Amino acid sequence: MKQRIDAILADIENLKCKKEQEIEEARVRLLGKKGEITRLFEEFRNVAPEMKKEFGKSLNLLKNAAAAKIEELRNSAEESNEASGASFDLTKPGDSYPLGSRHPVSIVREEIVSIFRKLGYDVAEGPEIEDDWHVFEALNFPPEHPAREMQDTFFISASDNPVLLRTHTSSVQVRAMETMPLPIRIICPGRVFRNEAISARAHCIFHQVEGLYIDENVTFADMKQAILLFAREMFGAETQIRMRPSYFPFTEPSAEVDVSCNICHGKGCNICKGTGWLEILGCGMVDPNVLEASGIDSKKYSGFAFGMGVERIAMLKWQVKDLRNYFENDLRFLKEFETAY
Ligand code: PHE
Repeated sequence: MKQRIDAILADIENLKCKKEQEIEEARVRLLGKKGEITRLFEEFRNVAPEMKKEFGKSLNLLKNAAAAKIEELRNSAEESNEASGASFDLTKPGDSYPLGSRHPVSIVREEIVSIFRKLGYDVAEGPEIEDDWHVFEALNFPPEHPAREMQDTFFISASDNPVLLRTHTSSVQVRAMETMPLPIRIICPGRVFRNEAISARAHCIFHQVEGLYIDENVTFADMKQAILLFAREMFGAETQIRMRPSYFPFTEPSAEVDVSCNICHGKGCNICKGTGWLEILGCGMVDPNVLEASGIDSKKYSGFAFGMGVERIAMLKWQVKDLRNYFENDLRFLKEFETAY
């Protein structure tokens, strides 16, 4: 057995094949199912027990040497093929990379933003981690006022001046009123957080676009016109809006806005629950207390504000019935929007 091992080792060292087919033949001859080395392993079973250790070791060395040599020959064959250009088939189609697509929430947010940009609004952004002043106090939510419960808040620290996750992007509007020169015309897209149980209709994270316009002589009629223009750009030129009285601490008067159902065009269907109308946003004239809290003279200036949920608009646009789809990163869902824009 020793002699045969040595003979094969010498054979391996002298192997000089260059073509891939020859290398493969050598591999089969040595390491294939009926190859010389494989057969030696079979015979090894009959070796006397006291010799097993020695032969076992050299057999393994032989096997490794054979595998290494084959690998080396293959590599040099590949290199010389590449050098001579033989392995390139220029007629083969290239590898295509799978393209990603934009998330439906981003698509709708950008659409909302671009509509308001056309009306002269600038984009303003602010921090997601906020203080009580910018989310509540400056927006006319007095301490202990039950209106704070309208927005279940995630608190990060509880102190006299707690740190919290913003529940709406109205906080960005406060920062704008504190720092920007008048007139102000901004929209504030961003992520907001509310401590709500996750279901098909509610989530603890969602996205808003809120808007604010402050100037001299801004009226409710201006607000109505801006929202009507937005609704028609977003849902189609035939869209009607209606306003219902509502309440927000930071606006007075306040309204909720419905658009005519773009599915049944007002006839009544299960998306609009037979009413012909879909609720899309809240709005109102900025409360004078809010203007004053940010140092704006409420006798000279007035303004309106509005806010909408991006996922809600996306749900209406594409009739997605379960809000959770937007957060679960299921490619089967996301790929449906590949060709949306
Ligand atoms: N901030 C309100 C909300 O998150 C929306 C809103 C903004 C309502 C501005 C009126 C005016 O629900």
